[in-house]
Amino acid sequence: QWQIDKNVDNLTSCPQIKEAADLLKKNEVVAFPTETVYGLGGNALSDEAIEKIYKAKGRPSDNPLIVHVASLQQLHQICSDIPGTAQKLIDAFWPGPLTIILPKTGQLSTRVTAGLSTVAVRMPEHPVAHAIIEACNLPIAAPSANSSGRPSPTLAAHVLHDLSGKIAGVVDGGAAGVGVESTVVDCTVEPIAILRPGGVTREQLEAVAGSVAADPSLSQPDKAPKSPGMKYQHYAPQAPVYLVPGGKEKIQELVKQAKNDNKQVGVLTTEENKHAYSMADIVITCGQREDLTSVAHFLFESLRAFDETHVDLILSETFPMQGIGAAVMNRLSKAAGGKILE
Ligand code: TXA
Ligand code: MG
Repeated sequence: QWQIDKNVDNLTSCPQIKEAADLLKKNEVVAFPTETVYGLGGNALSDEAIEKIYKAKGRPSDNPLIVHVASLQQLHQICSDIPGTAQKLIDAFWPGPLTIILPKTGQLSTRVTAGLSTVAVRMPEHPVAHAIIEACNLPIAAPSANSSGRPSPTLAAHVLHDLSGKIAGVVDGGAAGVGVESTVVDCTVEPIAILRPGGVTREQLEAVAGSVAADPSLSQPDKAPKSPGMKYQHYAPQAPVYLVPGGKEKIQELVKQAKNDNKQVGVLTTEENKHAYSMADIVITCGQREDLTSVAHFLFESLRAFDETHVDLILSETFPMQGIGAAVMNRLSKAAGGKILE
């Protein structure tokens, strides 16, 4: 584990970054912060490195990885053809929390793309992520650095909790920024389509690309998602999570019911409402309802915190689908495995 201050000048020449980059060049896997969540990086050109990523995470091998680049030159090494709309999105949102699906070239490990003819690429904005990719001068495949199925890590401690002993190291640059993963957009279709809502909102995409579709599976759970990773249960704490759209009163009623059944009950709420659930055993807040970016920032940390308790069930408030709220509700619905108490 290497500690680093993301604000120092000339990060690329810091010894911690150099060590991490050297390990990546030797096809080892190293976790590092990005502006969304912590990623588990490996050389995207090496089958050996990619194999280590899947193994450390316990990730199903049909779920392709995102390749991270530090320059447009690196992008052109791995993508054969960049459609006009993709270029507009790159100009507007890179570096940043936007992943673009593009046709790939032959250089990459075929394991990275799980045999697909397309590749997911993003250029991260976080100075530590950028410095590591620049220092090793390789395209870096990096899924979120959690055990498959667990909430994504927003702190180095989360990475160590899940992957300690299974990876070569973690660069600790403090809390990740956005808190939920990047938006994944398929740019091989017209109009472009959101496969996973994330750090760049639909409204922001529309302002640049005009028409933006959404993968039908995002609103209809019985449809097969185009992004293989979206079909798995994900982000789930140990106790079952139930979404409760009915507001405070409905949650209070359900807490009372659970207590009558002798259950230990947890509530996931926000600063505004945290005093409303005195009957619950555990109340955990994720930011302020009034500021959905704060909810996104703390969401995974809050979900993980329930695993330090002994609750039998978790009742969660819901959030408006606007802006970053769409990504928050997508992750919460997955954490709940679709369980909603109306
Ligand atoms: O914010 C993020 O994107 C983080 C940080 C570390 O960059 N990474 C991340 O990676 O969330 P991961 O592997 O946890 O999620 C990648 C998602 C999965 O749902 C995967 O199925 C999808 O992207 N994906 C990757 N390649 C794809 C492709 N060629 N076509 C469709 N979906 C793809
Ligand atoms: Mg993930």
